[in-house]
Formats: sequence, structure tokens, C-alpha cells
Amino acid sequence: MAVIGITDEGETEDMGVARLNLDDQEYEFPVIVGSEGEVAIQSHALRSLTGAITLDPGYGNTGSCRSAITFIDGEQGILRYRGYPIEQLAEEASFVEVCYLLIYGELPNEEELEDFRARLRRHTLIHEDMKKFFEAYPPTAHPMAILSSMISSLATFYSEEEDVDLHVVRLIAKLPTIASFSYKKSIGQPFVYPQNDLGYAENFLNMMFSVPCEDYEPPPVLARALNMLLILHADHEQNCSTSTVRMVGSSGASLFAAISAGIDALSGPLHGGANQQVIEMLEAIRDSGDDFSEFVGRAKDRNDPFRLMGFGHRVYKNFDPRASILKGAADEVLAELGVDDPLLEIARSLEDVALRDQFFVDRKLYPNVDFYSGIIYRAMGLPTNMFTVMFALGRLPGWLAHWKEMSVDPDNRINRPRQIYTGAGARDYLPLADR
Ligand code: ACO
Repeated sequence: MAVIGITDEGETEDMGVARLNLDDQEYEFPVIVGSEGEVAIQSHALRSLTGAITLDPGYGNTGSCRSAITFIDGEQGILRYRGYPIEQLAEEASFVEVCYLLIYGELPNEEELEDFRARLRRHTLIHEDMKKFFEAYPPTAHPMAILSSMISSLATFYSEEEDVDLHVVRLIAKLPTIASFSYKKSIGQPFVYPQNDLGYAENFLNMMFSVPCEDYEPPPVLARALNMLLILHADHEQNCSTSTVRMVGSSGASLFAAISAGIDALSGPLHGGANQQVIEMLEAIRDSGDDFSEFVGRAKDRNDPFRLMGFGHRVYKNFDPRASILKGAADEVLAELGVDDPLLEIARSLEDVALRDQFFVDRKLYPNVDFYSGIIYRAMGLPTNMFTVMFALGRLPGWLAHWKEMSVDPDNRINRPRQIYTGAGARDYLPLADR
């Protein structure tokens, strides 16, 4: 395989070839190198040349696109949005700035940021008719299911003919309103309308926690923690939900349909749903009298489907930089709020036990972003079933950035993987009486 290098502009370029021998015949495929030296063998001509396809269940080794949004080095624990290290953004940026960065490619200057904020403020309300939808859901409805159907419903209010940037702004502005309305509905309280003189995080906290009969001022410590959590979740390249957004979008379906599908993909316990499951697992450990060995033993048992939630990652094989930031943040936020949550101690001890266990060491299983985020959400007063909704709020700009990138990518085709068929050979239909 000949790999030559990267262009000065940091873009990918076709360089060198990879040679494949199949049935005693040699085939050549172009080699592509990314701006951080990532190497890919371009295989889309494989089937037409050889008749064979690649088989990669779970796409663990398949590049689905070229993307300039987020870089991850799973071995080194590096995560950068548009080149900016996650540690710097989490510490210093605002979530709205990060939305702009991911979606438009550069950090905004003062004027651009103010203009972006003003556009967001204009779209925070949802159509009054949408409020009626909330009435139809049972009180037990999971807020992720409500969120997904509400986003899908936005397509019935806004025309596909409109400027896509307007839809982008609408989604960022309306998601917090819809999310907080679904929470208010679940606890039987009146909806609190957006208050546009507040910042993004403060406005969300106000819609979640204020009630008409009392004064409420969003505590700065909560707004800061929320801002950081949203930034840490804002993008993660071709993860399950983002790939879903791209896949649905590749068919030409509306942006609302694609984002709604992304929310559904995120809801799964192996993806965004893990943050809720982590807390449920830590509670179960607490209720068992802190019996870590039972849970670690079950996680190691090949015949038991139980996994340590918040542990392991498809890409990170050393540490998840988001988890490292959140571990420190959990200590600070809880201390500042004066919350003494025994689950934090259980989480720390579980991490300790697992990291010393050969099973986890061998498989390079470390805490991921979901391991400590739930503890902070809990301290903020959020109910467990809202945790994944918080993840969706954070991930939205990433989904939007990828959808936009996909929609102008000249390489974009409808996503349509192949398969290796393992079913029955051709056989004749038998009428019911003869079977
Ligand atoms: N607990 C116990 N064992 C685990 C765990 C875990 N949390 N995660 C992986 N393993 C084991 C697997 O059983 C497998 O063992 P084996 O080789 O003996 O069969 C090995 O480690 C590799 O695991 P895979 O499932 O092949 O890894 P994959 O990359 O497919 O899955 C995933 C990654 C889904 C995150 C997995 O680690 C997991 O299920 N973790 C728990 C759920 C979770 O925290 N999800 C959130 C991920 S982060 C996010 O989406 C934001």
C-alpha cells in the first residue's frame, strides 16, 4: 500500500493505491489520507470490479463520508470541533458559540454572534396549536418519544421550500421549549414560555424550573454546568444518531424528519439512553448495599446481557476526554450546590474497581461521557428520564452540521448498504393446504 501524504491545505487527497488479490487477480484501489493522517482505502468500486463487497457489521471499520467537522483520536483521547480542543471549548466557550462553530465552520465574531443570538430569540416559541399535542400523551410518556414526535411534527408547520438556515435556527431555538414543555406536562405543571432576555442555558432552566406562583432566578452555577454539558455533547462525528441523521437525510427527507430520527437513535440504552441507565445502575448498587462485585461479575459474565452502563466506547480505547472533564466537574458542581450525593461516591468506587479488573483492562473499557453526566443532571434537579433529552439538546448542532455538510457533499448518494444473504435458496410457494 503506497501512502504519499496530505495536501498543504489540510484537505484529503487521493494518494497511492492499495492492492487486493482475489481469485489470483490483482486489483488496485485509491488510498485517501485525511488532514490528521487518517488512512482509508476507497472501496466503492470493489463490487463492480470484483463482484465482492466488504462485510463490516456495525460499520466499526467503515468510513461513510469525508467530514471537516469533528476530529477524534480514540487512542490518544483527542476530541476537537473544527480543530478546537474540547477542553478549551468546555472551559471557555458558550454553547451558542459552539453551535455556530459546528454549523458554519468558524467561531463567530461579536457581530455574527449577536446576529445569531437575535435569530434564535425570534424563533423560541412553538406554534400554539402544537401545545395541544402534549395533551394527547399519557403522563407516563417518555420525554424522548415526545421530543421525537414533536420535531417530526414541525415538518407539518414549516415548508420544505423555505431557507434551510431558517429551519436550522428554528430547531436550535425550539428544542429547549419543546423539551421543557414535555417535562412540565409530565409533572402536571403549566408550561412556562421562553423568556428571550435570558441566555440559552438560563432560559431553558427557567422554562424547566420556574412556576407562575414563585420568583425564580436560574442559579449561575447551574447555567454554567449546563452550558459545559451541552458543549461536551455537541458533536462526536459519525456516531449512531449522527449517522442516522445523515442516512435519513441522504434520501432527501426533510431536516425535521432526519433530526427526529436522530433523536430516536439517541434514545437507545447503548447510545444516549446510557446516561439514564447509569443512574439506575448506581441506584441498584446502592440498594444492594454497595455490592460492586455482583455488578462487575455480571458485566463479565458472557451469559448475562448486563453491561456496566457508562463504560466502553466504540472509538475511545484509552480514555474519553469528555468523561475526564465531567468527573472533575461533578465534584465542583456538587460542592458548589452543596449536594452530597452518595451515587457520586459509588460511581468513583465502581470506576476504581473496574479499572483494576483485568476483564476491563483487556478490553480497554473506560468510563464514557455518560458515566458522570447523570450525576450532574441529578444534582441540577433534573429527573432521570430527562437525561437523554439533555443529550439531544447538546447533540443537535452536531446533527445539523452533519446534515448541512451531507446536503452539499458532491459524493453524497442515498445511503444503501449491501448484505451477505444467508437465507433459504429459491423454492416454490406451496398453497396453505399442501404445507
Ligand atoms: N460492560 C461490560 N462489558 C463490555 C462493556 C460494558 N459496558 N462494553 C463492552 N464490553 C465488552 C463486550 O462484551 C465485548 O467483550 P468480548 O470481546 O469478550 O465479547 C468487548 O467489551 C467489546 O465490546 P463491543 O460490544 O464489541 O464494543 P462496541 O464498540 O460494539 O460497543 C458500546 C461500544 C456500545 C459503547 C459498549 O461498550 C457498551 O455497550 N457500553 C455500555 C453502554 C454505554 O455506556 N453506552 C454509551 C456509549 S457513549 C455514547 O453513546 C454517548
